Amino acid sequence: MTGTDTGVGKTRVGVALLGALRARGAAVAVRKPAESGCERVAGELRAADAEALCRAAGSDEPIDTICPLRLAEPLAPAIAARRAGASLDIEAFVMATRARARAVDVMLVEGAGGLLVPLVDHVSCGELAARLGSELLIVVGARLGAINHALLTEAVAFSAGLQVLGFVVNHVKPGEDAARASLTASLREFARAPVLAEIGYGADGLRELAGLAARLA
Ligand SMILES: Nc1ncnc2c1ncn2[C@@H]1O[C@H](COP(=O)(O)OP(=O)(O)OP(=O)(O)O)[C@@H](O)[C@H]1O
Ligand SMILES: [Mg+2]
Repeated sequence: MTGTDTGVGKTRVGVALLGALRARGAAVAVRKPAESGCERVAGELRAADAEALCRAAGSDEPIDTICPLRLAEPLAPAIAARRAGASLDIEAFVMATRARARAVDVMLVEGAGGLLVPLVDHVSCGELAARLGSELLIVVGARLGAINHALLTEAVAFSAGLQVLGFVVNHVKPGEDAARASLTASLREFARAPVLAEIGYGADGLRELAGLAARLA
């Protein structure tokens, strides 16, 4: 799962998709390879996104497996990691994640921010997706400017040879304006990948993502 930006609803959509998959009886697993902006609680860095995905998946895997790189500073993970003197063995992570993915119906991996965000060293979220052999789900935060961000994300994905499952348009703010009201129709006109679902503000997304869940498992 990637998105047009940070804060566009990747985790929320991920949690909903996991719920829809589990309602079908699918076996799921989750990864959030690097999470920055983690809060320190009793000396431990707590990764809120990873923990939310873990709960939604009903996973009993340790947090170090699900989210091996937990970082305090709210920066792109590679930058926060460098400043903290932390790192991630990306090859080991890819091998272990691929092995786990073979044992479940759906492995859901949330990136950080958008597709070109440096995740660790010089590996971007998109490069990690390529190494994992992942198909991309692009969460589009519905706001003015989203068409550009969505099409840029799709263009980068295609130029990197990534498979794009499609877009999920997510309304992260209440109310409606012309840009948000026309976003799904505009993506259907200008993008190559399909719009798989549109989730309204305040909706839990379970019903909207049922069709996608049925396609995945
Ligand atoms: N459809 C929605 N309705 C209401 N609130 C939403 C909706 N989608 C997302 N939000 C809220 O917006 C905020 C950002 O969402 P979320 O954390 O899922 O984004 P993200 O893309 O995963 O962010 P990050 O880049 O930090 O991982 C959260 O508080 C979330 O609950
Ligand atoms: Mg998130």
